Amino acid sequence: MRLNKYIAQAGICSRRKADELIANGNVKINGAVVTEMGTQVEDGDKVSVNGKLIEQEPARKVYVAINKPLGYITSMDDDRDRATVAELVADIPERLFPVGRLDYNTTGLLIMTNDGDLTYTLTHPKHEVYKTYVATVAGVMSGKRVAQLRKGVDIGGFVTSPAKVTVLKQNPRSAVVEIQIREGKNRQVRKMFAAVGNKVQALERTAIGDLKLGRLMTGHYRKLTREEIDYLKNL
Ligand code: URA
Repeated sequence: MRLNKYIAQAGICSRRKADELIANGNVKINGAVVTEMGTQVEDGDKVSVNGKLIEQEPARKVYVAINKPLGYITSMDDDRDRATVAELVADIPERLFPVGRLDYNTTGLLIMTNDGDLTYTLTHPKHEVYKTYVATVAGVMSGKRVAQLRKGVDIGGFVTSPAKVTVLKQNPRSAVVEIQIREGKNRQVRKMFAAVGNKVQALERTAIGDLKLGRLMTGHYRKLTREEIDYLKNL
């Protein structure tokens, strides 16, 4: 098995993160540092990451959906001591890591798992699924702006792919808009609305593909059902 897959399957991190660890010289096989990406792990090999031996038995796979609150970072630890999503699943013994990212000020659906293969599939640019967000934006969400968002906008050197956009509510000074996008550029939804002249005031992710946030309370998690796990794996 390829080294990055071996590390991901053991639940240490995603396959992409494993590549970084390998490239940075943090991974050893049988005591020798390996930086070659394609290295194969053979039966009986002892692999260590940052000096810690990887368990031979892969960890039990755990899949949860969390409703990320405001002011949490999507990371396992933070050098600035901010709250992390890891704290929301602290009572689960397995070390789960987030699938993709949500901004500090974005709320809503985030999947956390120790299944590195699923993380890899769901975050790979080739397989990007539609993610649904509900944005509260300042100002008027005119038909022209909606059309621009649907077609694609320039968010600074990158033109977004067609998006699905529905205005849910127009208030006197703000609007509530549902937007579905397949890509996952940094702060993409905020930048898309900014590109058409509407500042995002609040942003919530409500679905990843058909997986819905539903009534999950802020800051809480629920285990995914077998059907949901199979659905995500087959995306
Ligand atoms: N787009 C954003 O701008 N922020 C997020 O957190 C997710 C998508």
